[in-house]
Amino acid sequence: MEIEELKNRATKELAKVKTSADLDNFQNKYLSRKGEVSNILRSLKDLSIEERKKIGPEANQLRKDLEEMFEKTKKSTQDARHETQNTKLDITAPGKKIAQGHLHPITRVMRRIEEIFGSMGFKILEGFDIETEYYNFDALNIPKNHPARDAWDTFWLKTKPELLLRTHTSPMQVRYMEKNNPPFRIIIPGRCFRYEATDVSHSHTFYQLEGLMVDRHISIANFRAVVEQFLKKMFGSGIEIRIRPSFFPFVEPGFEVDMKDASGKWLEIMGAGMVHPNVLKLSGYVPGEWQGFAFGMGIDRIAMLKYKINDIRLLYSNDLKLLNQF
Ligand code: FA5
Repeated sequence: MEIEELKNRATKELAKVKTSADLDNFQNKYLSRKGEVSNILRSLKDLSIEERKKIGPEANQLRKDLEEMFEKTKKSTQDARHETQNTKLDITAPGKKIAQGHLHPITRVMRRIEEIFGSMGFKILEGFDIETEYYNFDALNIPKNHPARDAWDTFWLKTKPELLLRTHTSPMQVRYMEKNNPPFRIIIPGRCFRYEATDVSHSHTFYQLEGLMVDRHISIANFRAVVEQFLKKMFGSGIEIRIRPSFFPFVEPGFEVDMKDASGKWLEIMGAGMVHPNVLKLSGYVPGEWQGFAFGMGIDRIAMLKYKINDIRLLYSNDLKLLNQF
């Protein structure tokens, strides 16, 4: 009876064992040298031979059973612990994927643009994010107080009032012409900044690509050919563009180029024109001897058309849902 009762009690206790401390306690209480099972075995010597014959095997069986159950419990609690510590190696588990970075859509488009103009013999240059008032405006035939300055809402540098964040890439036209002789063809990609409200097609920070080609007999026909060739290589032959008259003080005549987007709406992609005689003069050239065309193209707008992105702000929001599609 005592053996039966002990077995029931020990089994119930073992079922509650969770930690290694529980295991130790159980082992001490029942299975150690001074434990309850040993006590029973030790007391056998005080019994009569008949009783010993009967109870002896039962007590030995009890010890065997409890030891077996104890080992099983010990193993399963250890396994559980290993699992939670993640030390168990599952060689069938799929490998961890290492996320790979990639180029931003604007960078991709910029590289493609450079490639195309490069194939047409254009040299690629860089300008400065911070410009002087002279190169951003005066050298481009936009004197102080000229109303055209309002077209370029400007971030001025507080500490140096003659410096600003360039509002377009056009300052590089004069910087280059001052130091180089024609003929030449160049492009200047770069960041521009305008103090203006953002909307689906305007950002305070955006990218432009300035283009300038100067030679002895350059006409609007050359401009049209270059721009069409570029757009066809960029978008394929099915594109629709329109060139309409516009005004920029540093060109004469001036125009703007629009392209149809996926929904059939016209999106302005660049301002352009024939370099103004005043700008040629300020750069040290003799107008009439040399002519050229210049354009300033919105790279973000090209990226939007290329990838069918309908809001420029998506390009600057660092949203992986968008970026991972490229
Ligand atoms: C200019 O900036 C002139 N410098 C372009 C030029 C160069 C004319 C050479 C003549 C000769 P405009 O402000 O229109 O022009 O800007 C040119 C292009 O830049 C626009 O057609 C548009 O594609 C892009 N752009 C202008 N402002 C933004 C803006 N806030 N966000 C995104 N793109 C813009």
